[in-house]
Amino acid sequence: MVLVTGGAGYIGSHTCVELLNNGYQIAVIDNLSNSHPQAIDRVKEITGRDFPFHEGDVCDEAALDEICKAYPFDCVIHFAGLKAVGESVDLPLAYYKNNIGSTVKLLEAMGKYKINNFIFSSSATVYSGENTMPLTESSVRGCINPYGWTKFMNEQIIRDTATARAGMSAVLLRYFNPIGAHESGQIGENPSGVPNNLMPFISQTVAGKYAELSVYGNDYDTPDGTCIRDYIHVTDLAAGHVAAIRFCQSHKGTRAFNLGTGQGTSVLEMVHTFERVNGVKVPYRIAPRRPGDFPVSYADPSQAEETLHWRAEKTLEQACADTWRWQKKNPNGYS
Ligand code: NAD
Ligand code: WQD
Repeated sequence: MVLVTGGAGYIGSHTCVELLNNGYQIAVIDNLSNSHPQAIDRVKEITGRDFPFHEGDVCDEAALDEICKAYPFDCVIHFAGLKAVGESVDLPLAYYKNNIGSTVKLLEAMGKYKINNFIFSSSATVYSGENTMPLTESSVRGCINPYGWTKFMNEQIIRDTATARAGMSAVLLRYFNPIGAHESGQIGENPSGVPNNLMPFISQTVAGKYAELSVYGNDYDTPDGTCIRDYIHVTDLAAGHVAAIRFCQSHKGTRAFNLGTGQGTSVLEMVHTFERVNGVKVPYRIAPRRPGDFPVSYADPSQAEETLHWRAEKTLEQACADTWRWQKKNPNGYS
């Protein structure tokens, strides 16, 4: 049975669907600090499967004790965390406390309850901006904001724990840029307030919530001058977690994998793909560069392909169509 922390969130809810559809038993713990309980109900509707949901904090030892005593877990997938880069610069201690504290408490609980398999939501943000592309798992790491450092430090904490604990298997999944939604339009990304990320800002602008998208910089050294990223459909990402569980069952120690498509897409390519696929107009203007943005970032996903037997299958077009379906069906998110 799999304990999913942060399972009411964007990537967690899609992974719950994938786990349930693959026959896994799950239980979710989430404090709903950045999510809505309806996401859990929708996962149940999509899959026709029931599962326990505990509203609780992963930093709270008693809450972890309660759920770990109640179910026979053999694996933990740890999505729970704060993820807003800008906010982490203003509130570094809140990020270190929540993102590092939750991982430490969880690893302690795993020791206590003899749970050996751990899958961690890491990020391409652990890679330094100095690397050549594509990014491989051995590219140079280094961060430029507290959020990134929490991922970097958590990776080290997990590695050290897996080294010290015989029988433990840990997989660090470094996500590139997750986008899209479940094809049903029932679950999707539900940012609170003004979205920080490109895709939800595009869809909410087309929906009329914002007058226009600001394209942050068109003077980068890229073919159209806008930044390039590796956008991966969230259901492909979810499938990567099922592949990681299978890998854990036959390998000990810690391994990191890039989960990306290997394809780079510029901001303007994304805008125009969204327009073409959905028959809509994305109003935009060119704005100054956003501090901290790297010009180009995309993955070499070959290790995940060779070792996890996983690869991204969905196209950018599908991600744009699925995002728009989710947005239209849920103009105000879950609330
Ligand atoms: P999300 O905010 O939608 O989901 C995170 C969930 O964790 C939320 O439901 C939130 O309520 C919950 N949570 C936070 N702190 C908690 C705590 N202490 N106890 C219990 N629940 C807690 O974010 P997401 O996009 O689904 O991201 C999931 C994970 O993937 C995060 O760790 C994030 O850092 C990582 N990640 C996300 C992206 C991205 O662009 N979305 C990219 C790389 C890595
Ligand atoms: C993508 C591109 C922007 C918004 C962030 C985190 C990273 C990871 C994923 C968790 C960039 C441009 C954006 C807008 C724009 N999260 N953009 N106008 O910055 O690659 O990664 O999310 O681990 O840590 O930093 O993603 O979606 O914010 O931006 O022009 O309104 O879109 O400049 O080039 P990013 P993003």
